[in-house]
Amino acid sequence: KERPPLVVANWKLNGGTDLICASVASFLRQNFRVQIGIAPPYVYIGNMANFLRNSQIMIGSQNVSKFESGAFTGETSAQMLKEVGCEFCLIGHSERRQVFLENNASCHTKISSTLSAGLMPIICIGENAQQHELGLTKHILYRQLHESLLGQNIKGQQIAIAYEPIWAIGSGKAATPESVQEVHEYIFNELCTIFDEESAKNIRILYGGSVNKNNAAQLLAMPNVDGLLVGGASLDPEHFSEICALAN
Ligand code: G3H
Repeated sequence: KERPPLVVANWKLNGGTDLICASVASFLRQNFRVQIGIAPPYVYIGNMANFLRNSQIMIGSQNVSKFESGAFTGETSAQMLKEVGCEFCLIGHSERRQVFLENNASCHTKISSTLSAGLMPIICIGENAQQHELGLTKHILYRQLHESLLGQNIKGQQIAIAYEPIWAIGSGKAATPESVQEVHEYIFNELCTIFDEESAKNIRILYGGSVNKNNAAQLLAMPNVDGLLVGGASLDPEHFSEICALAN
């Protein structure tokens, strides 16, 4: 692979000062070639970005507002995130889609705001268990990709896709490396259609869903797997470091 993989930790609604201290200490001890991102809850982004300013670790957010400013209580804009040192935003995580009713249209707006602020959007897509069993995976992914990405201006910008089958998230049952490869190849081909081949080659496609130190290497060995999005296992700094070391 031409570029080092991207391994991203999504802390979800977890973590606090203790996890931040342990993670920062663990990362500053090591030297990784792999690109690493951590997405803590919003309130910790500024502090963590400061702690890790001289490291290669990127700090990101788990969400972003689709609005730039105004009377939108509880929202945080892409520009604000940029200002406090955020470098990427997760967009359309399945938990946001399921619990907070986000959809492809809102993801489209959030991706535009993120790109305008110069942040890297990591767009999360994936099918649920029923859709998986009915063989609808590609149909679902097609809609998620086309409806959120068509018309986006990605020239000179970094973007990434995270394929996260919902049935694999937090279940302890990761998708098999072979099935992930097949889906990632499909995603790559769709990205070629939406943008062009050269742009598609610059878009990293990450896999997420029950990734741990025992399955990370096999997943990363697949030709179209450019990185990982890690939930549960990222809450243990040593475990997450081991995954990053496997990607190194
Ligand atoms: O964003 C991360 C994913 O939802 C995966 O979570 O590693 O706990 O399955 P997990």
